[in-house]
Amino acid sequence: MKNKAAQSLPAKHYPGLAGKAYFNFGGQGVMSQPSLDAIFEAYQYVQREGPFSSKMFSWIGQQLNDTKELFAAVFGGSAHCFALTQNVTEAVNIVLWGLNWQAGDSIMITDCEHPGVVDAVNNLVRRLKLNLIEVAVQSLDGQELVDSIEKQISKDGRTRLFVFSHVLWNSGKVLPLKEINNLCRQYGVLALADGAQSAGVLPLSLRDYDSDFYAFTGQKWLCGPEGTGALYVKESLLGKLEPTYMGWRHHLHGSERGAEKYEIATSSFPLLAGLRTALKCHQEAGDDRSRYVKIMANLNYLKSSLEELGVQTVAGAGASGLLSFKVPGKNHNQLVTDLESDGVYVRSIPEPDCLRASIHYLTESDDVDRLLAAVKKRL
Ligand SMILES: Cc1ncc(COP(=O)(O)O)c(C=O)c1O
Repeated sequence: MKNKAAQSLPAKHYPGLAGKAYFNFGGQGVMSQPSLDAIFEAYQYVQREGPFSSKMFSWIGQQLNDTKELFAAVFGGSAHCFALTQNVTEAVNIVLWGLNWQAGDSIMITDCEHPGVVDAVNNLVRRLKLNLIEVAVQSLDGQELVDSIEKQISKDGRTRLFVFSHVLWNSGKVLPLKEINNLCRQYGVLALADGAQSAGVLPLSLRDYDSDFYAFTGQKWLCGPEGTGALYVKESLLGKLEPTYMGWRHHLHGSERGAEKYEIATSSFPLLAGLRTALKCHQEAGDDRSRYVKIMANLNYLKSSLEELGVQTVAGAGASGLLSFKVPGKNHNQLVTDLESDGVYVRSIPEPDCLRASIHYLTESDDVDRLLAAVKKRL
């Protein structure tokens, strides 16, 4: 597949794309027909051979292993460094609650984290009497950004964990993962990246980037089903990060050395077949770099065309799949509904008040033209 330009499966393979110009992959991706079929077949198999039976028990183990093997092949690292979760927030919580915090320790976040993650961090801070340090990232770039993070990390000497998004959900800005990981290591701080808006968009090698913790979700850019996600834990930290919730999956595997100890109990195992099929569809469409190149081409086309129309794009976009923009004099929530009536799907963002379009490699330039026409009509 190397060096092949990214080719989407025909739209008919994605029922969620039929008749639409869909730009909400950062909220939830669309599932391919092969993924939907794989889930249906897996559920049928479970009913035929179980649903509770010794055969099913080994099938579940195989589903878990196959999925982790595929994550390792796609994102780098070893299969046993991935714990399967239901979403990215659960993965973040595993790290938040799994460290051996002492009252008075500090945790650092950026000023652009997802509200769900902010709540999770605030809860931890309140209950364990930690200090919260916030670093501004939206308005800074390059070395200035790294310097600002360093200044905050070194502030009180008690920062234990930095929680940051690899791609900011509101503006699409990409934070320098490798530099942040290096900086954190230098100061003895652990780094937890929220990959909700990056996994499935940016070419990624968790081992090369030397990530401590990387959380991601299956249902957004990976176009898998809701209820799937994962936490990557660096090998050397598996002994340091304690499981908080425990159940039979921990009971069976807890003594093993891998990240499976963070998994709890029964979940919708057939969904994993759909997620793996989604990942394979992406691989067949082209390698991660060629898919990224296609995303960037359409994103830049949308960005320059919006700017030509006098629509202001939010600073920071240009290296991820997200493009946020402000339509002058318009209520963005109302605009979301209005654009949907034209078959164009975007979302609004509260801070900064704007619209957000997600450009996937499944996005074609015709979709971009449809979005541009729908916006132009309302200027
Ligand atoms: C940056 C970021 N983090 C976390 C989330 C929450 O995702 P999930 O529902 O998979 O936990 C989102 C979803 O929009 C997000 O954009």
